[in-house]
Amino acid sequence: MTQITTAPIDGQKPGTSGLRKKTPVFMGPHYLENFVQAIFDAIGGAAGKTFVLGGDGRYFNDRAAQVILRMAAANGAARMIVGQGALLSTPAASHMIRLRRTDGGIILSASHNPGGPDADFGVKFNMPNGGPAPEAVTGAIFARTAEIREYRIAESQDLDLSRPGETRLGGMVVEVVDPVSAYADLMESLFDFNAIRGLLQAGFRLRMDSMNAVTGPYAVEILERRLGAAPGTVVHAVPLPDFGGMHPDPNPTWAHELMAEMMSGDGPDFGAASDGDGDRNMILGRGIYVAPSDSLAVLAANAHLAPGYAGGLKGVARSMPTSSAVDLVAKARGIECFETPTGWKFFGNLMDAGRVSLCGEESFGTGSDHVREKDGLWAILMWLNILAVRRESVAEVMQDHWRTYGRNYYSRHDYEGLPSDSADAMMAALRDRLTALPGQVIEGMAIAAADEFAYTDPVDGSVSAGQGLRVVFEGGSRLVLRLSGTGTSGATLRLYLERYEPAGGDLGLDPQQALAPLIRAAEELAGIAAASGKTAPDVIT
Ligand code: G1P
Ligand code: ZN
Repeated sequence: MTQITTAPIDGQKPGTSGLRKKTPVFMGPHYLENFVQAIFDAIGGAAGKTFVLGGDGRYFNDRAAQVILRMAAANGAARMIVGQGALLSTPAASHMIRLRRTDGGIILSASHNPGGPDADFGVKFNMPNGGPAPEAVTGAIFARTAEIREYRIAESQDLDLSRPGETRLGGMVVEVVDPVSAYADLMESLFDFNAIRGLLQAGFRLRMDSMNAVTGPYAVEILERRLGAAPGTVVHAVPLPDFGGMHPDPNPTWAHELMAEMMSGDGPDFGAASDGDGDRNMILGRGIYVAPSDSLAVLAANAHLAPGYAGGLKGVARSMPTSSAVDLVAKARGIECFETPTGWKFFGNLMDAGRVSLCGEESFGTGSDHVREKDGLWAILMWLNILAVRRESVAEVMQDHWRTYGRNYYSRHDYEGLPSDSADAMMAALRDRLTALPGQVIEGMAIAAADEFAYTDPVDGSVSAGQGLRVVFEGGSRLVLRLSGTGTSGATLRLYLERYEPAGGDLGLDPQQALAPLIRAAEELAGIAAASGKTAPDVIT
């Protein structure tokens, strides 16, 4: 065991989901080591503990895993459970942490950000409940990075992580496990695989785009092997260090190949994609894109059709910028609905307390209390289970949903790569105006309320302030603006737009058309064009 002298490195502050930086930054001297030692220190040391380790397979995943194993051994960990090839999807890691009753896990991923020597890398600590560390813990990790003076690392050659089995590193057991099987078993316990198999046998056609990221092996095992979808159903199925140059974010912009196939007129009945680490999903039917906020609402309304949720839902939760479509379902079902800040870590307490079973975010994240992360393949299987029982197309399910609950037209506009100071100044200027806004009329719409969202956790009472600027209009339409907490360079502005159309109204509009007055109002209120130097968003979802 070696003690290495080090010094604090600026900026190791975890964001919305772990610490994300450019890969060369993570590969710089002591960078990874300082952060990992800070994790161990902040959780009271690693001695005698068992952790899960795995990642999404992006560039540097393999070498970072070896460093972390050596550090865990030197810090006295008893056992590390590592996905074969150092791979684990984020939801599979969450499951493994829970299944094996471990002391937590380290996940190597920058999620939906591109990978490669000049792209992004990330490290995240998850708690023994399987969920991302809450702010108190990420704050303690960050504080530790600011005072660190040494880290511990064992001297050893790289371990062979290519085959399941146990080896030792000093006094620590390294257990390499198949990353897929336990997760696939969990999915099989929640969903009616026979019904889905029947649907596929009846000629229902499926396309899954794993975007050269971690879900490839999971999707092939579950969809093709266990459910009998045709070989080749899963495309881009091999995880690659640079995701084959793809930007592994399952949205209409980045999953454009899948989009084109699904919109071609004679495309498959169902299409889906997932992101770098497998926690996001995009759902498509032939000729129809399902907005993530709508997907959450549809899953809430139909979850009882899947065996794992046959008893009904305890409650639901959504992040604040997510549309309130799911609120309408919760109201109709008489169950609780919570509004949390952006980021999955805020759902953990609610799930642990048994208050909610289904959660979602507008950013292509949906999941349940089967793990403590959002879960892309889970959402895809839930949809397939619902379609198998209802024997309707995706478009028919959506029409029926809107005719029952009304439609929450929704869109998110992202402005990327803004200079941080102009983005901050724009937000500050709007923040200053908030109290004066109610009563004003913009684009013919009267402002009913405006505030900056703050959240008090109903379980532990912790307060998270500064979670997004909201402007709500009479009738319930709203704008939300916030700056991304997952980027690795400059600032990304997210503008969230929502307008509610009741069940009897015009349910078939193009969302960008339906939201046009709100888009103009946002420009008037915030001056996005001037602050960003852009006349249009970079990504529209
Ligand atoms: C983004 C999404 C957020 C999600 C997070 C991690 O964070 O907006 O909903 O939880 O990625 O996947 P942001 O960049 O907006 O801080
Ligand atoms: Zn992700």
